[in-house]
Amino acid sequence: MKKRKKRRLKTSVKLFFLILIVAFIGIHITKVKYEEYLYTKTSDYAITNLGYTAEELNLLNSKLSDNDKWHVANDIGYNEFLINFVKCKYFLARNIDAYLSLTVDKDEDFWHYKKPEDYNYDELVTKVNVMRHNEYYTNSVPTNMSKGYGIIANKYHYLGEDYIPDDLVKVEGKYLFSSSNNIQIRSEVYAAFEEMWKAAKEEENHYLVIESGFRTYKYQKDIYDDYAKKRGASYADSIAARPGYSEHQTGLALDIYSWSCSTANEFKNTKVYEWLINNSYKYGFILRYPENKQNITGYNFESWHYRYVGKDLATKVHDSGLTYDEYYAFYLE
Ligand code: DAL
Ligand code: ZN
Repeated sequence: MKKRKKRRLKTSVKLFFLILIVAFIGIHITKVKYEEYLYTKTSDYAITNLGYTAEELNLLNSKLSDNDKWHVANDIGYNEFLINFVKCKYFLARNIDAYLSLTVDKDEDFWHYKKPEDYNYDELVTKVNVMRHNEYYTNSVPTNMSKGYGIIANKYHYLGEDYIPDDLVKVEGKYLFSSSNNIQIRSEVYAAFEEMWKAAKEEENHYLVIESGFRTYKYQKDIYDDYAKKRGASYADSIAARPGYSEHQTGLALDIYSWSCSTANEFKNTKVYEWLINNSYKYGFILRYPENKQNITGYNFESWHYRYVGKDLATKVHDSGLTYDEYYAFYLE
């Protein structure tokens, strides 16, 4: 009797464990299947299905948000140029469509198609980031005033007619060529300039002078119109901003020369210029329109035009080797 009971108990225990194992396996399989199902709903799955490799997917993951990836999956599809853009140091996901619009797809235009290796992707990324894929002064936007001393004014970001900073101060005659000039700049810029002026004098016996500071909308209009009248609009656009678009209207830009040279074409060859490009960032100023960057800044090289952005930012911009337009687009906008 006892033996039979024991055997029945053993069988029940075995059965129990068997059911338990089967249940575990069942749950495990269901879980795996469910996870597989969930994966088919992800942007990773959609992108892989389009033909991007695992390596390419990794790259996309490192630079794109999930929303951006869905944009690739749903609207862009497999694009042979895309990965080349994403690889660029200054790639910005928000500009993805604009970058791609600069390439020619074989299906869209067979005769103008160029192979992926025929493009300079870094150049195109820069162009789009600074909005240069638009004609100058088209698609321009009001500048973001909340950027403080980092505010940008260029051919795509305007200040408008009414902007006048509220902390302008008059520059003392000893910092000007002619003490009869009436030049105003923002008060923090003045303090920074005085500090720089002292350093230039103490270190190298250079005497810096300010030739232009804050300009009203109206004054900028007169300057631009005068150039345009005498030499034509395209010349005027290469050296002067149209009213409402000038950094001078921010009260943060200074045209700086020295007692020994105040000639635009010659200043770049002077020791004072050399000192300024190597030291001005320490006082919060950056050279705003550097040589060979016309297509990025929109202006010819101006060895005299310095822009106050504050010491920290000026050091970062200086160290980056970027123009302010590029720096702003990538790090600040
Ligand atoms: N010369 C600079 C570009 C201006 O007019 O603001
Ligand atoms: Zn200037």
